[in-house]
Amino acid sequence: MAESRLALVVGANRGIGLGVTKEFLAHGWDVIATARQPDKAAALHALAASHPGRVSIPRLDINNPADLDGFAGTLGGKMLDAVLVNAGVSGPDHRSASKATAEETGALMFTNAIAPVRLARSLADHVRPGSGVVAFTSSVMGSVAVNPGGHELYRASKAALNSLARGLWGELSGRNLTLVSLHPGWVRTDMGGQAAAVSVEDSAAGVVAVLEAQTGAHQHRFLSYTGEELPW
Ligand SMILES: NC(=O)c1ccc[n+]([C@@H]2O[C@H](COP(=O)([O-])OP(=O)(O)OC[C@H]3O[C@@H](n4cnc5c(N)ncnc54)[C@H](OP(=O)(O)O)[C@@H]3O)[C@@H](O)[C@H]2O)c1
Repeated sequence: MAESRLALVVGANRGIGLGVTKEFLAHGWDVIATARQPDKAAALHALAASHPGRVSIPRLDINNPADLDGFAGTLGGKMLDAVLVNAGVSGPDHRSASKATAEETGALMFTNAIAPVRLARSLADHVRPGSGVVAFTSSVMGSVAVNPGGHELYRASKAALNSLARGLWGELSGRNLTLVSLHPGWVRTDMGGQAAAVSVEDSAAGVVAVLEAQTGAHQHRFLSYTGEELPW
C-alpha cells in the first residue's frame, strides 16, 4: 500500500482549519491538526476517533514564541507533504488605523503575519523536497492592488503576510518546494460571519484541491480557493 501523505494544519479546531482537516482526511491524507487547547478541541477528537491513527492534535499557540520556535523539533523524523498555516484573527473591532493602539497593532501583526512566516521558516527542513507544499491562509483583503478601503488593519496584516511570504520564497526557492498564499473565500465561520458567501465545506474542498494541484509547481503564487490567480 502506498504511504499516505501527511498534512500539518495550524489552527485546526474550528472554522476553515477544521474544514480543511476533514477534507484532507477524506482525500486519504493523515493530518497533524494543531489547537491552542487540544483538551477542548472536541471536533478534532471526534475526527481522531473516527479515523484511528490518522489524526494527531498537538498544542500550538502561535503567539507563544516557545511554542512557535519549538514546534518543528516535535516532529522528529516526520516529513510533511503539505503545511497550511491557517491560524489568524480579525483584530480590534474598530478595524481603523486612526484608532489603533501600538499594542493592538503589534498583536494583530504578530499573529497574522510574523508568527505564520516564522513558523513556516522553522518547518522548511521537514517539508518533503520536490512535492512539498507550504501555504498560508491569506486573504484577497491582503491584496494591495484591489484594496477598496475599509478593514484597514486586517488588510494590512494580510498584506504583510503576503510580503513576508514572498521574502521567505526567496530563501526557499532553491529547495524544490512550492509556496502558496491562499484566499479561502469569504467563509461562514466565527470570523467570516453567517452572511458570508461560501460554506466551510466548499472553501475547504477548494483549498485542498489547490494545494494538491500545486504539488511540484515550485513557485509562489497568490491563489483563491477556486484556483484563480489573485493580484498582489
Ligand atoms: N472566514 C473568512 O471569510 C476568511 C476570509 C479570508 C481569510 N480568512 C483567514 O482564514 C483563517 C481562518 O479563519 P476562520 O474564518 O476559520 O476563523 P475562525 O473561525 O475565527 O478560526 C480561527 C482559527 O485560528 C486559531 N487561532 C487564532 N489565534 C491563534 C493563535 N495565536 N495560535 C494558534 N491558533 C490561533 C483559532 O484557534 P482558537 O479556537 O483557539 O481561537 C481558530 O482555530 C484566518 O487566517 C483568517 O484570517 C478567513
